[in-house]
Amino acid sequence: MIETIARTTGAIQLISRPAGFPEPADFALVELPVTGPGPGQVLIRNLFTALDPGMLMRIGDYPGIPMPPFGIGEPLSGDAIGEVVLSGDEALPPGTLVVHRLGWRDYAVADIATVRAVDADAYDSPSTHLGPGLVAYAGLTAVAGMRSGDTVFVSSAAGATGGLAGQLARLLGAGRVIGSAGSAAKVAYAVGELGFDAAFDYHDGPVADRLRALAPDGIDVYFDTVGGEQLRAAIEVMNPGGRVALCGALARQRAGGTPDTGPGDLLPVIGKRLTLRGFTAFDHLHLAPEYGRRLREWLADDAIVRTETIVDGLANAPRALLDLVRGEYRGKVVVRHTR
Ligand SMILES: NC(=O)c1ccc[n+]([C@@H]2O[C@H](COP(=O)([O-])OP(=O)(O)OC[C@H]3O[C@@H](n4cnc5c(N)ncnc54)[C@H](OP(=O)(O)O)[C@@H]3O)[C@@H](O)[C@H]2O)c1
Repeated sequence: MIETIARTTGAIQLISRPAGFPEPADFALVELPVTGPGPGQVLIRNLFTALDPGMLMRIGDYPGIPMPPFGIGEPLSGDAIGEVVLSGDEALPPGTLVVHRLGWRDYAVADIATVRAVDADAYDSPSTHLGPGLVAYAGLTAVAGMRSGDTVFVSSAAGATGGLAGQLARLLGAGRVIGSAGSAAKVAYAVGELGFDAAFDYHDGPVADRLRALAPDGIDVYFDTVGGEQLRAAIEVMNPGGRVALCGALARQRAGGTPDTGPGDLLPVIGKRLTLRGFTAFDHLHLAPEYGRRLREWLADDAIVRTETIVDGLANAPRALLDLVRGEYRGKVVVRHTR
């Protein structure tokens, strides 16, 4: 018999749908009742919520995406890790660390089918479980079929996913790894700290020219987090048989949803027999154990630089999400729940 408890939780709600790039005033921190857990549910005290630019596609009005927009007056949701504090199922006793989708609130009641128990001792910080490594790993291996010796181009090279994709490409045997980022400081960070062979600021003239200068023999794989001009440039500079893993749409997310002009002329895609393949991390969850094992080995060997910013308190989450997409951070950004 499960004890039914009632308590309240802080939660971030969307209170108005932005027409373009959101403002902090589009969000509010509210107090909501929490009831439960019932049978087959757990009550989770969230420790960290991940900030993901992809949320902007559900905050604004982006036609054509498979997920419904967040409702006005409803809490946001997103990846989080927390600790079970009350359980309606003996398989997940109190104290179990779980990854789930009900972030953006301090406490969550979730059906056990929607949570995944993780090893509390796997990493120094539980927030590591929220890293974008699986999407970077799956994009390079399963989607782009990266081969040893390939020249790999990665956009948003100082960002969470791009920064990891560049490092993984090197560890997986790329011949040359080239990155792009939005400032000279980020370019220096990608090369000096993350180990990219070369990088450029995408504001410094036509991207295709910058890419051609750094990859005179062409590129074989593009890990695309951006779309728009960078995707068109990659197609232009790509070698025959090149492969693009289409992961993200930062250019459109930064532009407040305005569709960009996409890949442009597709004739080179035919002529060079290129492959452009969209994917999500959810398509490749079966790779999670393999990736987790390799990540622990790489971390133990100090072979990966893990850059993370922790923002304290749920109230600061909306502004931090917007700052993230504006380019204020490097690496992964997570919100630490403080109650
Ligand atoms: N397919 C999936 O399953 C999946 C999973 C995770 C993430 N994603 C997507 O992958 C992308 C990256 O996510 P993330 O969490 O790793 O974000 P991130 O790269 O850490 O995010 C923010 C960065 O976006 C860059 N940016 C902003 N406007 C830009 C523009 N117009 N052109 C180029 N870069 C711009 C900024 O870097 P600069 O300062 O360098 O401009 C900023 O630091 C997002 O689109 C996200 O939705 C997809």
